[in-house]
Amino acid sequence: MKKIAVLVSGGGTNLQAILDACESGVIRSGKVELVLSSKEGAYALERAAKAGVEGIVVPRKAYPDREEYTNAIRAELDKRGIDLIVLAGFMIIQHESFFKVYANRVINVHPALIPSFCGDGFYGLHVHEAALAKGVKVSGATVHFVNEICDGGPIILQKAVSVEQGDTPETLQRRIMEQAEWQILPEAVELFCADRLEVHGGIVSVK
Ligand code: GAR
Repeated sequence: MKKIAVLVSGGGTNLQAILDACESGVIRSGKVELVLSSKEGAYALERAAKAGVEGIVVPRKAYPDREEYTNAIRAELDKRGIDLIVLAGFMIIQHESFFKVYANRVINVHPALIPSFCGDGFYGLHVHEAALAKGVKVSGATVHFVNEICDGGPIILQKAVSVEQGDTPETLQRRIMEQAEWQILPEAVELFCADRLEVHGGIVSVK
């Protein structure tokens, strides 16, 4: 069984999808060992407690710079021998050393079809605001390996979701979560844990 850490900053619905997938057997080759939040009081920590998973807070404010913050997180992950790090609504960009040490071991869920609506400043509701402002008729979600380029790492899974007339950023966000994120994130976690992902030249293939 691979050891999984889920990094969160907020509500943690994607964390919940992973915990539910462990319960239902969709994820059967890994186990969530740690939930690490960048914020005190994040609801995701309650979800962890309910599932009997260790939850800790490593507050960004407590560290003077990004590198020290990244080192503090690395210490927590290494202490527990974590194999896979899942960014599930984790809103802090790590120092580049993080992605060197954990190359092809960190995955992120992004609420759009990369390379659309991604990169600096595209997170949370901002992504859906931008998609609606552009008038796209299809959006979706992407799970990708994380590297030093913001939202630029190798793509693992994507799923398209229709934009509907009258959508607000909130309604579009919810539909993309329900129809895409909560499905493809657990699927990608299982593929990783079952050693079924291969990365060559920046392209992911499934064995
Ligand atoms: C999700 O929609 C996730 O895709 C997005 O934040 C939300 C977190 O929700 N992540 C990003 O925008 C990262 N660039 P959650 O806390 O309920 O899982």
